[in-house]
Amino acid sequence: MEIRPTTDQDLDVFVDTLHAAFGRFPETPIEGGGLWWSALETDRCLLALTADGRPVGTAAAHSFELTLPGETLVPAAGVTAVGVLPSHRRQGVLSAMMRHQLTELRARGEFLSVLLASEAPIYGRSGYGPATYTARLTVPRHQAAFAFPRARGTADAPATGSDSGSVELLRRAECGEILEEVYDRYRRAQPGALSRPHRWWALRAGQPPISPAPRYIAVHRDADGVPDGYASYSIGEANTLTVDETIATDDAAYTALARFVLGHDLVTQVVFKHVSPEHPLRWQLADFRAGEVSGDTDWLWVRLLDVPRALTARGWLMDGELVLDVDDPFLGEHGRYLLTVRDGKADCVPTDREPDLSLDVSDLGSVYLGGTAPSTLVRAGHIRAHRPGAATLADALFRAERSPHCLHWF
Ligand SMILES: CC(C)(COP(=O)(O)OP(=O)(O)OC[C@H]1O[C@@H](n2cnc3c(N)ncnc32)[C@H](O)[C@@H]1OP(=O)(O)O)[C@@H](O)C(=O)NCCC(=O)NCCS
Repeated sequence: MEIRPTTDQDLDVFVDTLHAAFGRFPETPIEGGGLWWSALETDRCLLALTADGRPVGTAAAHSFELTLPGETLVPAAGVTAVGVLPSHRRQGVLSAMMRHQLTELRARGEFLSVLLASEAPIYGRSGYGPATYTARLTVPRHQAAFAFPRARGTADAPATGSDSGSVELLRRAECGEILEEVYDRYRRAQPGALSRPHRWWALRAGQPPISPAPRYIAVHRDADGVPDGYASYSIGEANTLTVDETIATDDAAYTALARFVLGHDLVTQVVFKHVSPEHPLRWQLADFRAGEVSGDTDWLWVRLLDVPRALTARGWLMDGELVLDVDDPFLGEHGRYLLTVRDGKADCVPTDREPDLSLDVSDLGSVYLGGTAPSTLVRAGHIRAHRPGAATLADALFRAERSPHCLHWF
């Protein structure tokens, strides 16, 4: 089998092979997904071909920036468009493509990659671990009252209910650059968030609100009239209002947008499609049980390619020291590292000291952004803790300033 980059000449072969792997024809509309393939970077697309030159598999990567705890922005390869023709599955085509791709990412100097998994069992073996989680929150309109009246709050603590800003209702086509600018400000401060390169917006490649799918956009502006949040939504069957994204640069803007969508007349329920696990919205409702959480799922999977570089890149909230024994069976690698954190920065060097924790690189990917507690993975039998207190220390150390969340679809 040969694995090689796609050229401009055979991008259509790539797209056709991928569509066949997903059981679709190219002309099949992908609901709300826009022209997703127009955002592909040709030199980052891989084709797997049989010995007689027939294309049987595809994989690609986008060049994103990922926000780490401590508001650090790092390059991240967004692995996508992975597919193998049904006639050639379970013969190692994906494994060969993943190995090829990881080697290539390292050659580019990238030290981590991320992806969204169509099925959970696929990517753990190649070193990816689920690192951010998301859920849907459904609030019946008749239970949508907030615990605090709108004007509550003081100048010192304005986040709960006060809002000196305003909400304007626009159609998707009227938004100009507002959504792109607000999203960019939001993602720089949100651990786990990915950049949305300008060309995605320009090409309208992706799911709403990037795509031109008809949507209402509630834009929130601060007291100075500067946009600082938006909610993209549509009203569909049974008068259900579905919010694709609520993007806000602070809690006050989020709350104002939530109040706006929950206050719609003639709506039976409001579905927030992407709510992070620790989001305060349920606590803001007068009836705590009003918000029903469903579709709780993994979103971003993380794969570390250079453990010391990855651990020194992120910010840390407290001081501490841990010895991590990290196994990478997919790439046949192993390393033992002393992680020392002082004043928010980490040092990570090879060591032969006794380990505190032994873990697979996929588990390190899961805990890396602070969205999965190491102690949960110890209790699950994934991570081995070699001394009492090691897991508790790891929990405290890996925590992020807020729970990581990603809602970009790619
Ligand atoms: C997922 C997919 C790419 C796997 O390709 P493949 O070439 O069959 O994978 P491989 O033969 O390299 O499999 C490697 C291992 O992963 C396992 N595996 C692969 N896909 C799996 C799946 N969907 N569920 C469970 N295990 C899976 C294989 O059984 C194999 O295990 P083994 O090493 O113990 O034998 C392919 O099934 C496909 O195209 N599916 C439809 C499209 C899709 O879901 N793409 C992923 C988008 S995120």
